[in-house]
Amino acid sequence: MAEDSAAPSHEQDVNPWSVEGARTETGEVAAIDYEALAKKWNTSLIDQELLERFERVTGHKPHRWLRRGLFFSHRDFEKILTKYEHGEPFFLYTGRGPSTGSLHLGHTIPLQFTKWLQDVFDVPLVFMLTDDEKALFNDQATFEDTLHFAMENARDIIALGFDVKKTFLYSDLKYLGNHFLMNAWEFSRLITFNQVRGAFGFNESSNIGKIFFPSVQCVAAFATSYPEIWTDEPLPVRSQKIADIACLIPMGIDQDPYFRLLRDNAHRMRYPSPKPALIHSKFLTALQGAGGKMSSSNPNSAIFMTDTPKQIKTKINKYAFSGGQVSVEDHRRLGGNPDVDVSYIYLTYFEEDDEKLEKIYNDYKKGDLLTGELKKLAIDVLQENVQQFQERRKLVTDEVLESYMKPRKLEWRGNPNPVPKPPSEEKPEEKGKGKGKGKDKKLVVL
Ligand code: TRP
Repeated sequence: MAEDSAAPSHEQDVNPWSVEGARTETGEVAAIDYEALAKKWNTSLIDQELLERFERVTGHKPHRWLRRGLFFSHRDFEKILTKYEHGEPFFLYTGRGPSTGSLHLGHTIPLQFTKWLQDVFDVPLVFMLTDDEKALFNDQATFEDTLHFAMENARDIIALGFDVKKTFLYSDLKYLGNHFLMNAWEFSRLITFNQVRGAFGFNESSNIGKIFFPSVQCVAAFATSYPEIWTDEPLPVRSQKIADIACLIPMGIDQDPYFRLLRDNAHRMRYPSPKPALIHSKFLTALQGAGGKMSSSNPNSAIFMTDTPKQIKTKINKYAFSGGQVSVEDHRRLGGNPDVDVSYIYLTYFEEDDEKLEKIYNDYKKGDLLTGELKKLAIDVLQENVQQFQERRKLVTDEVLESYMKPRKLEWRGNPNPVPKPPSEEKPEEKGKGKGKGKDKKLVVL
């Protein structure tokens, strides 16, 4: 895994703690091959048919990140669409490892996308801050440090606009207990050391916190970990009815190994849950170009959400890898290469207008649009995005923070016009004990 990174040539390595493109014998770093990754991990690619179904079922045009393949892979996303179609309950779960106090643009991608899904589906979201994980995996950080980062990140996350009525945001170090911890212990009993070693590359010298932690990240996808979200009852407990609520997890593809473990074992819990559905994103390209992702440890690789307009301008002008020619004359004559141009790639993430984007692409390729002009377009869009974020961040007071982080019943509506399920579509769901689903989808409360 990460230890191999010093080797002169190696295959690409994507795991929850590091991401590296393949390296050739001459030391060149190749772009991440996402299709190869999807194939290796046996995920499904998001295709046109799925996007069309999404639009039919939700009445929403797919997000530009779906249209343009930034979210490119999934597991069982179509099952979530079926649930939505029939008005059956499900919720969203995502998370963030608070390794620093400030987010960069790359971190916000899965989060902004999750907010959009929350708006489209009108469903609850649980948002985990893994301040436990970040201290376990970094000897330099204390638990106080990562807890502090978690609370700072929480303000950033709130500034992205999640609906407080539908969102429960929590720090592992503060919230874990009760049903959540019971689920984590129960799940840990189902997983052996051999399995986590296989999934994450741990060995006998890994601290035992690391070995247990996957259990924590996994059970967050069980609705039973938060019985208080679903009911007003004073002392809610785990039940089969709650366990039946399905889950969709938006994430960077590097997190997939956790959730394979989860999907393989969800049915083995005392209150079995359906396999959580997953939707995977690529990483935001580093300023230096393909093969790297934005990284907090390399400030010149990333646009930070705290950057000033001037810093953004300087970073793009100075560091953004260009697909242009060396001289204006050559550029006019030969044209540029937008496919490797980081400014263009950033525009594909943040420019909503498909037609405008296509024109930029063609103009650059023809040489009508110069590198400086293309950079200017990217700078404008990024400055705007970051500035709006900073405005909203200022509004996150201590009270606002507290309102998101308080365990409580959430309020949502789901699909306003569900279509009844045709009887032929009624299939027995996951195998597993305790499932006695009748046609009327009345759920057993244990
Ligand atoms: N481990 C993730 C990180 O380091 C944080 C995380 C926890 C997460 N649960 C998640 C990410 C669910 C995506 C989906 O960033």
